[in-house]
Amino acid sequence: MRTNTGQIVHLEDYRPTDFVLERVDLTFELDPRETKVEARLIFHRREGVSPSAPLVLDGDELTMTGLLLDQVDIPAALYEATDEALIIRGLPETAPFEITITTVLSPETNTKLMGLYRTSNVYCTQCEAEGFRRITYFPDRPDVLAVYTVNIIADKAAAPLLLSNGNYLGGADMGDGRHFASWFDPHPKPSYLFALVAGDLGVVEDRFTTASGREVALKIYVEHGKEPRAAYAMDALKRAMKWDEEVFGREYDLDIFMIVAVSDFNMGAMENKGLNVFNDKYVLADPETATDTDYANIEAIIAHEYFHNWTGNRITCRDWFQLCLKEGLTVYRDHEFSADMRSRTVKRIAEVRHLKSEQFPEDAGPLAHPVRPTKYREINNFYTTTVYEKGSEVTRMIATILGRDLFKKGMDLYFERHDGQAVTIEDFVACFEAASGRDLAQFSLWYHQAGTPLVTASGSYDAGKQTYTLSLEQSVPPTPEQSAKAPMHIPLRLGLLLEDGTEATPTAVSGADITGDVLHLTERKQTVVFSGIPSRPVPSFNRGFSAPINLHFEQGARDRALIARHETDLFARWQALNTMALDNLVKAAAEARRGQPLTCDDALIDGLLAAAAEDRLEPAFRSQVLSLPSEADIAREIGSNNDPDAIQAGRQAVLAAIAAAGSNTFAQLVDRMSLSGPFRPDAESAGRRALRNAALSYVVYADDRPEKATNAFRAANNMTDLSHALTLLAHRFPDADETVDALASFKKRFADNALVIDKWFAIQATIPGAATLDRVRALMSDPLFNANNPNRVRSLVGTFAFANATGFNRADGEGYRFLAHQILDIDARNPQLAARILTSMRSWRSLEKVRSGHARSALEGIAGAANLSADVSDIVERMLK
Ligand code: ARG
Ligand code: ZN
Repeated sequence: MRTNTGQIVHLEDYRPTDFVLERVDLTFELDPRETKVEARLIFHRREGVSPSAPLVLDGDELTMTGLLLDQVDIPAALYEATDEALIIRGLPETAPFEITITTVLSPETNTKLMGLYRTSNVYCTQCEAEGFRRITYFPDRPDVLAVYTVNIIADKAAAPLLLSNGNYLGGADMGDGRHFASWFDPHPKPSYLFALVAGDLGVVEDRFTTASGREVALKIYVEHGKEPRAAYAMDALKRAMKWDEEVFGREYDLDIFMIVAVSDFNMGAMENKGLNVFNDKYVLADPETATDTDYANIEAIIAHEYFHNWTGNRITCRDWFQLCLKEGLTVYRDHEFSADMRSRTVKRIAEVRHLKSEQFPEDAGPLAHPVRPTKYREINNFYTTTVYEKGSEVTRMIATILGRDLFKKGMDLYFERHDGQAVTIEDFVACFEAASGRDLAQFSLWYHQAGTPLVTASGSYDAGKQTYTLSLEQSVPPTPEQSAKAPMHIPLRLGLLLEDGTEATPTAVSGADITGDVLHLTERKQTVVFSGIPSRPVPSFNRGFSAPINLHFEQGARDRALIARHETDLFARWQALNTMALDNLVKAAAEARRGQPLTCDDALIDGLLAAAAEDRLEPAFRSQVLSLPSEADIAREIGSNNDPDAIQAGRQAVLAAIAAAGSNTFAQLVDRMSLSGPFRPDAESAGRRALRNAALSYVVYADDRPEKATNAFRAANNMTDLSHALTLLAHRFPDADETVDALASFKKRFADNALVIDKWFAIQATIPGAATLDRVRALMSDPLFNANNPNRVRSLVGTFAFANATGFNRADGEGYRFLAHQILDIDARNPQLAARILTSMRSWRSLEKVRSGHARSALEGIAGAANLSADVSDIVERMLK
């Protein structure tokens, strides 16, 4: 039996609050077990609201010790405090009034990591989405904007540092071993952007002068001794601030910008006004301990949170259904930033890989939901890849449809029109309509219809008339609670390549609007005729992945190879090779399933090796070409009745064929891509390391002995190379003495660095095969594992479930039973973390029937457990529906 069912919230029920909150004054007396919070809230009744309407405030697990109206006790008959709300009656009809609420909290025992909690002796808050109501009773919703003053009192020795949002007002010693500090944030903000941090931390300081001359103090707080590892984050922050001025015309608006790195955090980071709080994994880096991917993530997430200052904070969401208003847009902004800092093509490839491996499965499974949902039971479960990444793609499509200048005009209008407001997706889209004069009504379906559209195309060439006819048909698959779908506006970038590699320039096009190379699909079926095409063209669809769709077009290897060689759009070149590889991997999986000999097409091998050896292409791009679609990618492409063991066997056969055919190319690349001199984390050096390591993987794959990987492990002088070599050893030779030794030496060397030990856990959790479950179980008893720390749990349990197709999906169902047990265990402490890890089973219905039967039983076991959180019960029930 569940105890926490959670209410369903509907978008259509939205209405503004009855009372307007004018000011917030908070005083915290910090103590690990007995923190006292006094909240003074000034309200007035909104015009037109009934004089008898009560004030209803949200709460969650609160202990209230005082309640005053204008400094006088409120009699018990006039209020009611329940588990979820405080309801006060008999309030003034028109005059403003002050409610003072005193609550007592225990940060140390707050294992949910929502509200005020402790991490490594530091007090810290996480309020998005609904954590503020765990601090005091409050109108805890994003459309209630107020100006906050925050006073913090704490023991001076334990917490020399007292931080909150906004600008520092002052502070003093209190003479009794305690001190206080006051902060004032002049920008009206919703409660989810409130933050408080107090403790003993080291700091890295810098400064930034904005375009209009405002001096901003920059501070990054980390554990003492870790200051040198924050240098890259600081550099990324300054670049992000400058970029947002240059590209979006956005300046920072306070005297100080602070980032605090903490080691216990449910998500990546949080954009609290002027005081971002980060999972330390996305702040700390040095060559010895961080990989190139870590550096790129830090750069992107530092930028993401900083960019929220305008897209999220200055302009926020009216309600949580509008989450993509800030998240989709801010992801789009951080993608553009990284593209400008690094290689645009390689960044785009990485984005599309991520979108297809994370968002497409979500959109194709039981958890599918629109980018702008219309109902939810637990909002924490909607911080999804659909809201974030598909939301970003929708923003990108607006830019594609409008073109650069009109998109910019629309963004400028958005900032001008809505600064200081809490708005909706409709408000956002209206700015682009106003700026461009275009009607985006059909386009807006991208926000409302879930599911990945499928475009099926076929072409025919008429040599006599010199015309090429494309027949295009779109459909959007049914998703939970949305069976019938209307046709969408799909901006499909397209090129027609001729046999010599040049691009055809049609003399006329009928049947669709085309602007530049963007073909606007708007009907269910469209026939597009291109005239003046001198010879049979090879269509290259969805350049730059202009639309987040699946596209089916029968295209032979020769035609794909032509695209891979000649496309002017480099992304499309990668896409052609990747699609060719995927076709082959699907075929190999089917062969493995039927027990037939496994084959790999020569055209694929030739295409991959040609690109790998092509020195005019940048190394990072070539490494992307060499990295084959994952087992999960293959499973998604097959779609149903999946057997992960057959998929893996097929993939290994293809890898082996490429490794054997390319042994010279790969050996040469390992030599030629080596770097000398001190480590540099820039994109170019990272690209060389990526290509060298991709080649090394094939070299190791072609050899039955662990020597080459062992040598690479010994020679590595940075974490990228070291962790790659350890992965090769562990995944290819899991039981070899060399692997046992390497794992032990790695552990010993980094035992005091939890973030590196997370890599050690993850590498072992992803060793293919059924035996890994026992290894994961054993690692859970390792002294370096900590079941209370989200990063440790994600590295071991999460990585096993999300990224070990054969280990997790064991045919005997043990993997699912293990996960079910873990979910219940984690849920008792941290529901948000449990619910997130459970989504690893979102594609369970696409497994063959023995496995899907076991998966169903495991899910039913979770659904039937006692005391389930609303977070987990929401996910498990949707997955079983
Ligand atoms: N707004 C944060 C970000 O994207 C994420 C916070 C998520 N919090 C949550 N409780 N789900 O930068
Ligand atoms: Zn965000």
